[in-house]
Amino acid sequence: MILIIYAHPYPRHSHANKRLLQEIKDLPDVKIRSLYDLYPDFTIDIKAEQKAVEEADLVIFQHPMQWYGLPPLVKLWIDKVLEHGWAYGQGGDVLNGKGCMWAVTTGGNEQHFQLGHHPDFSALAQPLEATALYCGMKWQPYFALHNTFTCDEVAISAAALAYRQRLIDWQTAHPAAVAVQPQAMEGETNG
Ligand SMILES: Cc1cc2nc3c(=O)[nH]c(=O)nc-3n(C[C@H](O)[C@H](O)[C@H](O)COP(=O)(O)O)c2cc1C
Repeated sequence: MILIIYAHPYPRHSHANKRLLQEIKDLPDVKIRSLYDLYPDFTIDIKAEQKAVEEADLVIFQHPMQWYGLPPLVKLWIDKVLEHGWAYGQGGDVLNGKGCMWAVTTGGNEQHFQLGHHPDFSALAQPLEATALYCGMKWQPYFALHNTFTCDEVAISAAALAYRQRLIDWQTAHPAAVAVQPQAMEGETNG
């Protein structure tokens, strides 16, 4: 099962992320948890999140980039859900061997990420990548849709199709991880 931890602070106002999700939600065995719909008061149900992760073979963190990083609720999710003795430390082997991927949309283009001394966009993936590796997960190449401030529908649709293909490719390479029925989104679906 592919679990998408989706963190858009204003899911009803999303354009790019909503389009990405539309393109993949009919795939079998893809479960989407919309954190800002599930936890508008930021009180995360840790046990429910851990159960969802335990059932997953690939965990995708999907969100719009905010100030070169994660929206706060997905950071809180990481802080709360990846508990000692569950995600890491003695007995903390639940995430071992599961895949982990970052799917991010950004308003800026490539130049936007050349500020400072780290011209490569992939440097921004490092905290999540290191977290995943620390917990024994298998880091997958990230998926990024840049330039959402100015790109047109054609570019967004092409990105959405590429995202869908990434998930299909992963499922094809991991056939044991796929059942037959599409999964519903947990949290609101009509935003
Ligand atoms: C508070 C805030 C901070 C943002 N910071 C960045 C940023 O650092 N870099 C960037 O490229 N875009 C930034 N953006 C733009 C969003 O990433 C962009 O609007 C989003 O990816 C578009 O996806 P959506 O249509 O699903 O909302 C920011 C947006 C907000 C609201």
